[in-house]
Amino acid sequence: MHYLAIKGKQKLSGSVAISGAKNAALPLLALTLLSKRKLNITNIPEVADVKTLLQLLTNLGAVSTCKDNTVDIDAISVNSACANYDIVRKMRASILVLGPLLARFGHCEVSLPGGCAIGQRPIDLHLKALEKRGAVIEIKQGYVLAKAPKGLQGTTIIFDKVTVTGSENIIMAAALAHGTTTLVNVAKEPEVVQVCEVLASGGVSIEGIGSSKLIIKGSGGKLLDIQDFSVIPDRIEAGTYLCAGAITKSKITLKNVNPKHLEAVILKLEQMGFKIDETKDTLTIHPAEKILPSDIETSEYPGFPTDLQAQFMALCTQAKGTSIIDERLFENRFMHVSELSRMGSNIKLKGHSATVEGKAKLNAADVMATDLRASSALILAALVADGTTKIHRIYHLDRGYENLEGKFSKLGAHIERLEE
Ligand code: EPZ
Repeated sequence: MHYLAIKGKQKLSGSVAISGAKNAALPLLALTLLSKRKLNITNIPEVADVKTLLQLLTNLGAVSTCKDNTVDIDAISVNSACANYDIVRKMRASILVLGPLLARFGHCEVSLPGGCAIGQRPIDLHLKALEKRGAVIEIKQGYVLAKAPKGLQGTTIIFDKVTVTGSENIIMAAALAHGTTTLVNVAKEPEVVQVCEVLASGGVSIEGIGSSKLIIKGSGGKLLDIQDFSVIPDRIEAGTYLCAGAITKSKITLKNVNPKHLEAVILKLEQMGFKIDETKDTLTIHPAEKILPSDIETSEYPGFPTDLQAQFMALCTQAKGTSIIDERLFENRFMHVSELSRMGSNIKLKGHSATVEGKAKLNAADVMATDLRASSALILAALVADGTTKIHRIYHLDRGYENLEGKFSKLGAHIERLEE
């Protein structure tokens, strides 16, 4: 196992290139199951989760190569509809093959994803929506057994809660359904929008892209003439690096970003005293005179993203005053608090809410990564702590951050990946 050693009190400078979005690449790779042609996909982040999903697709019979952030994939040869436990347990987003497999083959077996550190993360909304479309779903020995021998029928589906991968699963299934599907209360994340845009490039009629109501005319089971595409930039990776510039009071520039996907995040940083310049595909953050405390409530897009809650909590430890952070999406997304507290931060938890007292003097410590985004919060704290911090179990980070040490080193951080 490896750990990261990060020297504190570091200033950063220069620029960092943001990778393609992990949370767009995953549904888009599942979407290749609906394509009748080989696809060339660029700006793919070479992170562990993407490799896991490519492995799953290969196990199903797809043929793919992944090199220099480009995937060439032929899923036409897929001949199995059973996604087994040993892959799905590694990554819950594997559930994204459920909709496409069922729509294409009329049946599939997909292992139930485990929960994870941040919460129970059920898939009841995915399954309910498929049943509404004529699927017969059975849960047996930890597997979802789904059948729709006559294909999925178009109908109207209202999501009781906004679910990102639930929306993506059902949108992809609707693309091959018989008839028209109306979806209400659909997630509006940029990653969901790109799934719709790529399906539309394959001739699927989708009204309302980017809104919470979609009207999708299905192909009646016929595979789609999907066009090659490039994955959108990773807004969560971008937000993480913005926080790195902010917490170290550095001026840094992010390249290959889409500022429109980060409006809530940029606004929050400006309210905390930072100045941010933007062009069509770059963001430059300037140090704040004084970091101001902030009240943050996570919500669905375009609200403040839950995937940046931990990073902003680390930043709030350096603000002078009291910040309140409300996590509204997941029931257990404060795993970073105990590790940040061990570094000297003063954070009190009450239910969904964390009260962060700043400015806290942080000291280096041995800390443990618990989930992807909590781990990046520990890196931010380590950059300003006194001494060298060691972050263990960094396989969590490798799931979603491409070339982490390389990017941080290029910005001037002293960060090393060492053997335990
Ligand atoms: C996606 O997860 C992201 N993952 C998560 O990013 C992100 O935190 C989350 O959306 C919220 O933005 C991917 O896109 C691969 P949800 P997802 O379904 O789709 C409840 C990261 O760090 N719910 O939108 O699994 C659920 O428990 C990851 O990159 C149900 O109750 O999240 C949660 O409370 C972490 N039943 C809420 O909805 C369901 O059937 C939102 O979950 C589905 C979800």
